[in-house]
Amino acid sequence: MRKFIPLSKVKVLFSCSACAAEFPKWAGQCADCGEWNSLSEIVSSGKRDSRRSGGYSGSAGRSEVTGLANIEFTQDYRWPSGIAELDRVLGGGIVAGSVVLLGGDPGIGKSTLLIQVMASLSVGSRVLYVTGEESLQQIAMRANRLSLPIDSMRCLAETSIEHILHAAVKEKPKVIVIDSIQTIFSEQLQSAPGSVSQVRETAAELVRFAKSSGCAVILVGHVTKEGALAGPRVLEHMVDAVLYFEGNVSSRYRVIRAIKNRFGAINEVGVFIMSESGLKQVSNPSAIFLSHHQQAVPGTCVMVTREGTRPLLVELQALVDQSHLGNPRRVTVGLEQNRLTMLLAVLHRHGGIPTHDQDVFVNAVGGIRVNETASDLPLLMAIISSLRNRALPSRQIAFGEIGLAGEIRPVYNGEERLKEAYSHGFKRVIIPKSNVPKGSKFSLDIVGIDRLDEALDVCFD
Ligand code: TYD
Ligand code: MG
Repeated sequence: MRKFIPLSKVKVLFSCSACAAEFPKWAGQCADCGEWNSLSEIVSSGKRDSRRSGGYSGSAGRSEVTGLANIEFTQDYRWPSGIAELDRVLGGGIVAGSVVLLGGDPGIGKSTLLIQVMASLSVGSRVLYVTGEESLQQIAMRANRLSLPIDSMRCLAETSIEHILHAAVKEKPKVIVIDSIQTIFSEQLQSAPGSVSQVRETAAELVRFAKSSGCAVILVGHVTKEGALAGPRVLEHMVDAVLYFEGNVSSRYRVIRAIKNRFGAINEVGVFIMSESGLKQVSNPSAIFLSHHQQAVPGTCVMVTREGTRPLLVELQALVDQSHLGNPRRVTVGLEQNRLTMLLAVLHRHGGIPTHDQDVFVNAVGGIRVNETASDLPLLMAIISSLRNRALPSRQIAFGEIGLAGEIRPVYNGEERLKEAYSHGFKRVIIPKSNVPKGSKFSLDIVGIDRLDEALDVCFD
């Protein structure tokens, strides 16, 4: 029940949705983090209850000064989630006492995945699925339709953090899912669920609960139109791992990527297919990000990217077209926009190919995001191929970073990438000279290059 607070004690504050800093007055820009238009009004009772937030002890609790060697811990602290692709992203399973944030667009499959995970974990462990969005009937219907083992799966439809924690203390689950953090509110705060202060406080309560009880907590987070997690960005700092669903809702493939993980590699991806019977793992996803043309077409180049600990073949596509705008368009899907602008400048300066009167659109096939610099060389090759309307040979791949001086720089795990290309039947590779392996390990035609103009000679002589 909400406490009555005399109007004289109610204080209006403005909080930044990016960094959660609070200000007495509204301003167009947050003075703390510099974000524009991020301040929104919150109502505070003016008094902070230090008992509830554990004083200011932080989420990890308090301790005396101790020698690290004296700390006791158990080795066996990961539980396989029952879905190997998710375990891979988590770094080997769900860690006891950890808090994982799972973000993604509406309808991408967050609830579906977590219902599958919780049903599979419920065979042998106590789990609690807390829903603030769907009714228990909807969840039961979905679980039944997917034929999941739900005999011992425990659920709760609740949005009050006080009631959720009360139930969690009674149930003693090993894993608890909160779907979603934006629907949860604390009775101690006056603002509406989903507001900065509610999201921050309720998440902090859950983090404290996870650390003190050893129960793993998985939070579902909504994303805004711009693709960032709704609510304060401090949420990402508070949790141990942040996983994102990538790709678009209309494609069959779903990619989950770890963008932060205190217990494993970041950028690790797990690949799933959304089928009529739920999310299915794709355990060998290497070739799904290719578009399998019957014959070579201009404007495409295949690369081997290494996402986390696994190499993947990804097709990059470019369309370069005469622009009628004063400011030609540079559009990227799945690739970094600034990187494209930089590469076009390098192409002009060191390759002598201007694109200032051309619109340039680039795309990574299959909805995957490619964040690494090894995509520079294949991307430029796709762009030149489209500009000249000449296809690159079909069984050819490329990878390599391009520097501002027009040099082609080596990328890590070169041999592993070559092996992946070889095992998928590619015949010719264009790579940085320093990545060329000594001796002929694979029967590939390996072309090592040092400078951008050499790449142009090799591909488009
Ligand atoms: P959902 O998990 O409810 O999304 P989120 O929680 O991320 O908002 O995903 C629902 C979508 O997935 C919906 O558009 C229908 C689709 N879907 C299937 O295609 N097959 C299935 O078996 C299920 C359960 C959902
Ligand atoms: Mg949902």
